[in-house]
Amino acid sequence: MPAKLNHTIVAARDKVKSALFLSEIMGLEPPLMLGHFALVTVGDELTLDFVTTDQEITTQHYAFLVSEDEFDEIFARIKVRGLNYWADPFHKKPGEFNHWDDVRGVYFDDPDGHSLEILTRPYGSEGTSAKRPHPLVAEVIDKNDDVDAPSPAGGGSLVCKEN
Ligand SMILES: [Fe+2]
Repeated sequence: MPAKLNHTIVAARDKVKSALFLSEIMGLEPPLMLGHFALVTVGDELTLDFVTTDQEITTQHYAFLVSEDEFDEIFARIKVRGLNYWADPFHKKPGEFNHWDDVRGVYFDDPDGHSLEILTRPYGSEGTSAKRPHPLVAEVIDKNDDVDAPSPAGGGSLVCKEN
């Protein structure tokens, strides 16, 4: 059996608050308390294990692939809570979605500033044939979608799926 990610630890000021935030906003099962951790199951088996710390929290990024219906439901909860959201990871485009790969994606923060993302198609899944290719796949995108994307390490190019 190939190695499969089973869990990862997420630092939080309040593990219960952050785990509840994630489970509620994403429409997941409530957290399970296990020792020092508050676990949120985010896949068939994968759990994000929140732990409380008083140390500095380094912001991490967690992206969730969701269906179009789930996107609508999650976004409705973002709106109800009055959360800020952005079309890009650098918070340059507030109050907008992105349409990379011709679908929808949006970023928002959890209570500790971890960057959460929901998207309805994996990055680059439409390759360069998309009307709005993901900026990591194709730098040329329309002028309304001029978000700066991080360059691959070393300036190399990413391999993308061509359809
Ligand atoms: Fe992402």
